[in-house]
Amino acid sequence: MSRRLRLGVNIDHVATIRNARGGGHPEPLRAAEAAIAAGADGITAHLREDRRHISDADIEQLSAACARLGKPLNFEMAVTDEMREIALRHRPHAACLVPERREERTTEGGLDVARGHNAIAPVVRALRDAGIRVSLFIEANPVQIAVAEALGAEVVELHTGAYCDAIKDGDSEAAARLLDQLRAGAVEAAHRGLEVHAGHGIDFASVGPVAAIPEVVELNIGHFLIGEAIFTGLPGVIAEMRRRMDEARGL
Ligand code: PXP
Repeated sequence: MSRRLRLGVNIDHVATIRNARGGGHPEPLRAAEAAIAAGADGITAHLREDRRHISDADIEQLSAACARLGKPLNFEMAVTDEMREIALRHRPHAACLVPERREERTTEGGLDVARGHNAIAPVVRALRDAGIRVSLFIEANPVQIAVAEALGAEVVELHTGAYCDAIKDGDSEAAARLLDQLRAGAVEAAHRGLEVHAGHGIDFASVGPVAAIPEVVELNIGHFLIGEAIFTGLPGVIAEMRRRMDEARGL
C-alpha cells in the first residue's frame, strides 16, 4: 500500500462565489487547473440537483480539463436518474454517490446504503458497467461498509464531518471516539477489499490524524481549501495541506 496519500480538491465553492454575482468569475475550471498545478491529484465536483454551485457546463469543462491534464475527475452525485444519465454521458474516472436533501447546506451525513440498497444497486451497476469507479460516501459503520461491499462498490469514502466538528468544538473526548470509529471503519473496509477514501470538513487542524490512518489512500477536501485560499492563495494552501498529509504519513 502506497504511503503517499492522494489529495482530491473539491472546487464546488469556487462556483458558489461565482454564482453569488451571477457572472463568470471566479471560474471553477481555472481553480481546477490551479489546484492541479499546485499538486492536487484529482478534482472533485458535486453537481447538486438544485445546481446551487457547480453547473452542467462546469462538469463539461472539468471533464475535458481533467482528461487533458491526465488527472481524475471525481463526480459527486445524488442517486437519481438524472445524475446517473449525466455521469454516463461524461464517464468521469469516479462517481461518488452521496445523499442529498435540498434544504441541507452541505452533505450532512453519509449515504444510508443499508436503507437505500434497492435504489442504489442499479445505479452502481450502471456506472460500473460504463467503466466508472464507484465510491459510496458513508459513515464509518460496519453495517454500511458490509452493504457497500455487497453493492459492488470499489471505493468507500468515510464521512469525517463529525470528527472534524468535534476538533473544531474542542471536544477531545468526542474527537477521540470518532477517530477510533474512522480507524475501525478503514480497517474493516480495506479488509473487505474496498479502497478507502475520507472527506468532509477537513482542515489543517483535523487532517493529520485522518491522514495517518494507513488504510486511507485519498482525502477529498473543499470548503477549507477554498476559504483559506482567500488569505494565502490556492497554491499556498494546497501546498501546506499536502505537506501536512505527507508529514502524517511519515514522508
Ligand atoms: N467528500 C464528499 C463526498 C463531499 O460531499 C464533500 C462536500 O461536498 C467533501 C468530500 C468535501 O467536504 P469539505 O468541503 O467540507 O472539505
